[in-house]
Amino acid sequence: MKREYVYKGFERFWHWMQALLIIFLGFTGFEIHGSIHFFGFEQAVKLHNIAAIAFLVLIVFAIFWHATTGEWRQYLPTRKNLRAQMEYYIFGIFRNAPHPTKKTVLSKLNPLQKLVYAGLKVIVIPLMVSSGLVYMFYRYPQRYEVISLNIAGLKVVATLHTIGAFLLVAFFIAHIYLITTGSTITSNLKAMLTGYEDLPEEQPSPEKSKKSH
Ligand code: HEM
Repeated sequence: MKREYVYKGFERFWHWMQALLIIFLGFTGFEIHGSIHFFGFEQAVKLHNIAAIAFLVLIVFAIFWHATTGEWRQYLPTRKNLRAQMEYYIFGIFRNAPHPTKKTVLSKLNPLQKLVYAGLKVIVIPLMVSSGLVYMFYRYPQRYEVISLNIAGLKVVATLHTIGAFLLVAFFIAHIYLITTGSTITSNLKAMLTGYEDLPEEQPSPEKSKKSH
């Protein structure tokens, strides 16, 4: 095993800020929805709006970082080892089988993570942002006498926003479980806190080892 610097400073900051904001948005959002009572409806709306703006600012910086560092390529989905990875989580993990994919600095996500994270970035987060912004800037029919969306339309927006929120809750629960499935129960968590993780050393290819003899 070799100690490697896997997650850079901005990446860790972005990850934890995003986690905090999504948890807070979920908490205040489900109060707006009527599922829980904590801040009171009006306060929950105000806090949800503030957190949503912070989330949008974070997203702009994250897009810039991913584009300029080329790290977005980490999320390109692949079918290679996808089945093996699924079988690992369903069966292998309970039989102490080895991880089917090796984590490296250049390829830190397994095929299932690539697929799920790409889905979040391309479908769920854009759905939350677009439905949230429409919800936020929706003009009620009586205001300025402009009817930009009718009430039935708003219901669709609210439903889409709520479906996205449930998907994020499901992701969150699975994510917490999967965090514990690294080489040790806390290795993934430690890596996202410190940036460093012990990764298996790359085996020299037969060609290279022949040359070195
Ligand atoms: C940039 C992102 C987001 C924006 C702009 C946004 C905006 C909004 C707005 C304006 C409302 C309606 C408040 C009102 O009734 O006046 C709302 C409701 C809600 N939000 Fe968000 N939101 C965002 C992200 C999120 C996220 C990430 C979650 C969940 C993790 C979430 C969960 C909810 C829920 C559950 C509701 C209640 C929906 C309903 O019952 O109609 N939101 N959001």
